[in-house]
Amino acid sequence: MMKPTTLLGICLLLAACAQPQVSNEEIAAFAPVRTVLETNCVHCHGDNRLSTMPPINDTHALSKLIGSQWIVPGKPEASRFYQVVTFPDEIPGAMPPSGHAIPTHDVHILKQWIKDGAKVPAHNIKMEPRGPLPRSI
Ligand code: HEC
Repeated sequence: MMKPTTLLGICLLLAACAQPQVSNEEIAAFAPVRTVLETNCVHCHGDNRLSTMPPINDTHALSKLIGSQWIVPGKPEASRFYQVVTFPDEIPGAMPPSGHAIPTHDVHILKQWIKDGAKVPAHNIKMEPRGPLPRSI
């Protein structure tokens, strides 16, 4: 017969394992995308948005773009959100509109994220501008 303390231990262990672990994985998987957006986009597409594109100041707001012309899951090339970061600097509408494209590595992160279905964590994450505002010229 198992001791009550052992039984309690097993119950606690099971309870701990039953907690959704997914959420941490989701947050970790989204982290690189978050960094790209916070470094290059959120300054202008946050609370004080300057564009017709809906704001992306948290992940719930971002998820409202998914499944529309802005972000087509699985299809980066069809997603406005991705197209604008691949335009050459001199094309009007290239993002950020600073005359400087974001690093290729960051473009790749956005591309892969959309290709993989543009998943955002279920738990809402606030997105804040990181670093200086990307210059407009
Ligand atoms: C310096 C401010 C600024 C930054 C930084 C910036 N944007 Fe924009 N964005 C704008 C403005 C202003 C507009 C509206 C003008 C326009 O529609 O061309 C816009 C429009 C857009 C549009 C809609 C334009 C269209 O042609 O459909 C998308 C999509 C977009 N931005 C994505 C991004 C992404 C992704 C980033 C980060 C890589 C980013 N923006 C960074 C200022 C910015």
